[in-house]
Amino acid sequence: MKFFIQTFGCQMNESDSGQMAALLNKAGYIKTDLLEEADIILVNTCCVRQNAENRALGYIGSLKGLIERNPRLIIAVCGCMVQKDGAITNFLRSYRHVGLLLGTFAIPRLPEHIATYRDRGEVIVDVEENYFAPQNLPLPLLNAGSGYRAQINIIYGCNNFCTYCIVPYVRGRERSKIPAQILAEASGLIEAGVKEVQLLGQNVNAYGKDLPQYNIDFARLLRKLDTLAGLERIRYMTSHPRDFTIELIKTIAASQNICCHFHLPLQSGCDRILAAMDRGYDTAYYFSLLENIRTLAPQATITSDLIVGFPGETEEDFQQTLKFITACQFDAAYTFIYSQRSGTPAAALPQQIESEIKRNRLQRLAAIQNPISLAKNMRLIGTQQEIMIEGASKNDPAHWCGRTEGNKIVVFAYDECYGLKPGDVVPLRITAAQTWNLKGEL
Ligand code: SAH
Ligand code: SF4
Ligand code: F3S
Repeated sequence: MKFFIQTFGCQMNESDSGQMAALLNKAGYIKTDLLEEADIILVNTCCVRQNAENRALGYIGSLKGLIERNPRLIIAVCGCMVQKDGAITNFLRSYRHVGLLLGTFAIPRLPEHIATYRDRGEVIVDVEENYFAPQNLPLPLLNAGSGYRAQINIIYGCNNFCTYCIVPYVRGRERSKIPAQILAEASGLIEAGVKEVQLLGQNVNAYGKDLPQYNIDFARLLRKLDTLAGLERIRYMTSHPRDFTIELIKTIAASQNICCHFHLPLQSGCDRILAAMDRGYDTAYYFSLLENIRTLAPQATITSDLIVGFPGETEEDFQQTLKFITACQFDAAYTFIYSQRSGTPAAALPQQIESEIKRNRLQRLAAIQNPISLAKNMRLIGTQQEIMIEGASKNDPAHWCGRTEGNKIVVFAYDECYGLKPGDVVPLRITAAQTWNLKGEL
């Protein structure tokens, strides 16, 4: 039997999908990249914003036709959306073609649930908050073509409860994977040909807080991983600005393989809104963090996440954000319109902002940030950058692309005679810059 996985959402879900694929593979199922030939379709969902939910629901709805043509087809919906309060009732009522509803804690039981469903044909729901032991999961099944890169989940869950965010409700409390297992996973991945490992967690710098007996924290874990031979790059996602220590900056700056890319979600440049979001820092603290990074690691790429239209955000508050991001000079920022998530404290606040105003603020934010991103990229013209090759560019096979250590995409003209493959690291000279990518030559 063949299975197909469609993944929505963040790297955490991508990593979960890799792990589910490995479990099914071990149970004798074969992965396919063709939806039409699948006997089992897994949809790994995200609910961080309403549009993420809409995309997943639209996709699940579109599978109805397939099941009408092939009643033996099995459809399993998993991930964050399934774990959300009230989601099951909605799925059972409006998506009757779905056979299995498996939350974020159900991953280890996936093969067993599929087997039971094949036997009995009755809908299976598993959303129990049942913290599993990650050491029982096999290494993720690597994607063909992008197998030079893999993720390791180092900490699950989140304890922060930022007032706008649904993640802590669907992913449970923080729990760290023990260091020996992380190192063993990394070694296994290196043996399988992986060159770049991305360490994952909702707040990676909380790593180890729940493992007092191991005398470990995120900086120490990074130093251990940095000594592994065969690994070219180590990335991590996401780090909370509040917990970013000087020691951590120094560790990254002094390392061999840890990418000098700092993704530090700011969310808002207004202290009043930061307090209402319960982020645990103010703009003065955040700015001093940037200064420390730029002093200790002058070549660092710094990126951020920003939310516009948090309840109660006034025009003046928003202007403070515009002013602050101008001072921060981010290489890039991911910008989001605040999305009301039921069950979170911010969703119950009275002063929700109208859509029109939110959309307008998003545009004005981009109008400030985009020229900064472009100017930052322009400064790289003429420099030499180490690029890890990703492969042929999607739109134009005569061009290939790769990433700098700072995670910037570089496109370059490709000739067969170069003989490069994904995962190779080569020096490129940067010849041109745009807002979201660079051009280079070998
Ligand atoms: N754990 C990570 C990010 C998780 S979600 C962190 O704390 O950085 C990724 C981004 O989605 C967040 O940084 C935030 O900018 C955005 N986000 C989260 N909840 C949101 C909401 N309700 N509306 C809009 N954006 C949201
Ligand atoms: Fe959400 Fe905040 Fe946790 Fe990030 S740190 S996942 S934004 S609650
Ligand atoms: Fe979405 Fe879940 Fe990630 S809600 S952003 S897939 S942790």
